[in-house]
Amino acid sequence: MKALVLSGGKGTRLRPLTHTMPKQLVPVANEPILGYVFHHIKDAGIKEVGVVVSPETQKDVRQFLGKGSRWRVRITYIPQEQPLGLAHAVKIARPFLGNSPFVMYLGDNLLAQGIKEFMEEFHSTNPDALIFLKEVDNPRAFGVAVLDKKGHIVKLVEKPKNPPSNLALVGVYFFSPSIHEAIERIKPSRRGELEITDAIQELMRLGYSVKGKILEDWWLDTGKKDDFLAANTIVLDDYIRRNVEGKIDGKSRVDGRVQIDKTAKIISSIVRGPVVIGKRCEIVNSFIGPYTTIGHGTRIINSAIEHSVILDKCRIENIARLEDSLIGREAQVIHYDTNHSRALRLLIGDNNIVEV
Ligand code: G1P
Repeated sequence: MKALVLSGGKGTRLRPLTHTMPKQLVPVANEPILGYVFHHIKDAGIKEVGVVVSPETQKDVRQFLGKGSRWRVRITYIPQEQPLGLAHAVKIARPFLGNSPFVMYLGDNLLAQGIKEFMEEFHSTNPDALIFLKEVDNPRAFGVAVLDKKGHIVKLVEKPKNPPSNLALVGVYFFSPSIHEAIERIKPSRRGELEITDAIQELMRLGYSVKGKILEDWWLDTGKKDDFLAANTIVLDDYIRRNVEGKIDGKSRVDGRVQIDKTAKIISSIVRGPVVIGKRCEIVNSFIGPYTTIGHGTRIINSAIEHSVILDKCRIENIARLEDSLIGREAQVIHYDTNHSRALRLLIGDNNIVEV
């Protein structure tokens, strides 16, 4: 069993952040999404991983994953020069995949329970494809499945204008090598891509067995701001245990499930979990509220923050209320007059400076 991780694309829905960082490396609870993906792959016991990268992402992705030793896997990088679709990515990965069954995991997708149990199910039931479905509010943004009364898949369509159901295809797929035969037969879609959704539909047409499973637990496609903040909320809820280190002065209070790095300083502040505070942070005279992640080396002074992700080396000063926000690396959000009280909701790219 091999794994194929897709880590290319332009990340248009998370701009401006993705002008300077691949969407798969935007951190949730101070760990890049791709880190969770690799953790799941390691957990399933897979050792050989192909990583499809684009010219835009490859430097940063290679720097983060290296040879894969952190997860005890061997990585083969597969450059995809143009974004010609998920099925095209499988096609160019053929020399790496050979005739092995494999799991394809989109590098911006996050699955609550990982993939170990699903892999066992794939092995024991032995279909040609095992795919996952989840009800969503906006099926137009996804591949969509139609099921019959018995729960068997009858049809799959990619990003339909008039969705025939609200069951979206999750970005994790198990395949036998017969998928290559189906990919050879499909043509590019309207958006000019070889769609994996069309390849699975073709697999069914050829008479191969395709099994669909509706996910009970959460799944997130982290490619947009609101989904990304939802991912931060869910990960903080599910994974964070209290571990308070660092220097906390007598005037501060730290309540609930909070992780504070040993090199961080909390001065005259209140931290209410779930919250993660990274290395070398300084929180002074501030309130850090539930569902917030503070990246490494960030300083928060005289401010209140809730339900937000602040990346590394930022400075937030005199902001009465910042919520539902995603702030890129080394950004500064500063107010020079301390008497304002309006809530701010921001999506800010790396290195920006905002004075309000
Ligand atoms: C891709 C697939 C789509 C699937 C989605 C899951 O879409 O084409 O079928 O539902 O991933 O995240 P994309 O994110 O490339 O728009």
